Amino acid sequence: MPKPKAFVTRLIPEAGLDMVTDFCDAEVWQDELPPPREVMLEKVRGVDGLLCLLTDTIDAEVMEAAGAGLKVISNHAVGFDNVDSVEATRRGIPVGNTPGVLTDTTADFAFALLMSIARRVVEGDRYTRAGRWKTWGPKTLLGQDVTGATLGLIGFGRIGKGMAKRASGFDMRVLYHDPFAVNDPYASEIGAQHVDMATLYAEADFISVHTPLNADTHHLLDAEAFRQTKPTATLINTARGPVVDPDALYHALTQGQLAAAALDVTEPEPIPLDSPLLTLDNLIIVPHIASASVATRNKMATMAAANLIAGLKNERLPYCANPAVYETR
Ligand code: DGY
Repeated sequence: MPKPKAFVTRLIPEAGLDMVTDFCDAEVWQDELPPPREVMLEKVRGVDGLLCLLTDTIDAEVMEAAGAGLKVISNHAVGFDNVDSVEATRRGIPVGNTPGVLTDTTADFAFALLMSIARRVVEGDRYTRAGRWKTWGPKTLLGQDVTGATLGLIGFGRIGKGMAKRASGFDMRVLYHDPFAVNDPYASEIGAQHVDMATLYAEADFISVHTPLNADTHHLLDAEAFRQTKPTATLINTARGPVVDPDALYHALTQGQLAAAALDVTEPEPIPLDSPLLTLDNLIIVPHIASASVATRNKMATMAAANLIAGLKNERLPYCANPAVYETR
């Protein structure tokens, strides 16, 4: 029997890639950059399965180009805003994602960004390398204390809770806003308090974003939001870039509405080198690496492969982002 055909849009870690190439007749895109749109439309033609990344837009046009034989879309990420999952459900195609395995790695990184921006670690490194370290200075690179500060979490899912757990180790007061977790038992366990957005903005010293990107959260942090934040507050975003309006953020950081920001994700990605944000010292920007540990990326790859293979076998995906697809079958 011929093996099922799959297109893999990038070189994922071998732990997962080997599973895919053993099971399928797989074409694997070898470039560092994602396949251009027209290449994607050509490569998916006639495939049974697609293993894609968050950098690939998988919409109705791609599904149509693949044809009626497309049985599964497996996204190598927990977020799946790049896949039109409503359209996939309508077509009866399960969409896989990789929840759980990157929670701690991402929360570790979000907290690392919080610590780094608060204590000006990256700026300090630049200062040293530029030869500006002449002596110990009583007023050199003064930052903000983390211990005892108030953390405002936008989103209280797995990663938001991971941040709350880490913050509790620093005796932080934890506020959160999440319409889906208003009375979350973990919040009581850890002493976190659900508040409305206005309270979160008014009281948080650090605001950390942990919400998925969707129509409700697109540019959630806009000019109006930054009018409400404390001038001494710091923003951390490890969720999705478009949750924060970049123009409003630049304005807030330069007009005294916000003290600093640390971004793992930007709009667009990568951030254009002429973005005014890149001229600011009170900002850290890193290239969407919050889940980038060896162990976690291996787990994500094996989960994505397992989802792909299950879909190709007509089995329920172990991690399915659109479970409604099984109700319509
Ligand atoms: C995800 O999985 O959604 C992250 O953004 C990348 O690991």
